[in-house]
Amino acid sequence: MKTKIVKVSSKTKDAKIFDEAGRLIRAGELVAFPTETVYGLGANGLDAAACRKIYEAKGRPSDNPLILHVADRAMIDMIAADVSPLAEKLIASFCPGPITIIMPKKPCVPDSVTGGLGTVGIRMPDSDVCRALIAAAGVPIAAPSANISGRPSPTTAEMVARDMDGRIPLILDAGPCEFGVESTIVACDADDKITILRPGAITREMLLEITSDVELDPAIKGTMTDSDAHPRAPGMKYRHYAPKAPLALIEPKNLTAKNVAAMLIREISAAKSQDKKIGLIVSDETTKIIEEKNIVPKEYIKSYGHQCDLKAIAANIYRLLRSFDDTDRTQLYAEATTRDGLGLAIMNRLTKSSGGNIITE
Ligand code: TXA
Ligand code: MG
Repeated sequence: MKTKIVKVSSKTKDAKIFDEAGRLIRAGELVAFPTETVYGLGANGLDAAACRKIYEAKGRPSDNPLILHVADRAMIDMIAADVSPLAEKLIASFCPGPITIIMPKKPCVPDSVTGGLGTVGIRMPDSDVCRALIAAAGVPIAAPSANISGRPSPTTAEMVARDMDGRIPLILDAGPCEFGVESTIVACDADDKITILRPGAITREMLLEITSDVELDPAIKGTMTDSDAHPRAPGMKYRHYAPKAPLALIEPKNLTAKNVAAMLIREISAAKSQDKKIGLIVSDETTKIIEEKNIVPKEYIKSYGHQCDLKAIAANIYRLLRSFDDTDRTQLYAEATTRDGLGLAIMNRLTKSSGGNIITE
């Protein structure tokens, strides 16, 4: 199959391309599209056969449910059997935006979308292009991230094409995504209780403004990895976001560039004695220190931004993780961030990318 990549923007919202993309979705085909978090691989969310194509194109385990993307509040009623007052509050506060809310599903939502669960994840993206596509399709769009299962999620159309070229008919290209990490997934567990199943750009701190009872699913607390946790978002149990070379995370107790650099120098020296070829994903501050030491070629020291600029780090992280795939590097190290605010989502993804390999001292 030939894959067409078409540049779109909110200004081209009314262009013919949305008619064509909407038609493809209604005809049971796949279309990759931008959102404010990562690029999605979309199909008609009410068409079981179309959704099965998503699993095929990604090589995704079939027990991992898809989330449904809606254009507006009215579309939620097409698929949710009940919208609780707390869910209604979340919608009013954060939608459209980078949040997915788990709700009881209506029978029209196929089992192949929800992996047999009685609930469905619903998300209203804050991307004009994405909502224009959903409106053109006229149906909720089921979409996981548009990567081959296990690989870092795509934040540009080029990254989508790397994984999906030849597998789908159309990729809509609106440039790099704003946030760069997938949406926060939340469940409303009681009248006033929210559980975070996957951290994202709607942070725990922001959710605490809605209710004082915000819990983290135990599977995403701390550094738990696949073997010791049973996450409620089934997808969180798989190794994910992984670059081709093994990755270790450097997380000193006191997260200063000086401490990170000291640990890196020690680890790099040990790895080099085993003939490993090193690649680094670190802050601007750590880059400066390591470059002066001349222990890793400059082109393999990649900065994700200033230590305190979590928004930039999130937006850059998947692209940097993928950037080593075409090199000869055999051991990667990434600098940890704080676990506060957006840092919780970044550290959740980095922990998974590393398969839980965190070096703390
Ligand atoms: O930002 C995002 O959410 C992106 C963009 C494309 O919207 N989508 C995305 O989809 O990250 P995906 O499939 O890569 O991740 C969805 C996660 C999976 O971990 C899945 O297990 C979980 O949501 N999930 C889906 N339905 C669920 C449900 N009913 N209950 C619990 N977890 C659910
Ligand atoms: Mg994904």
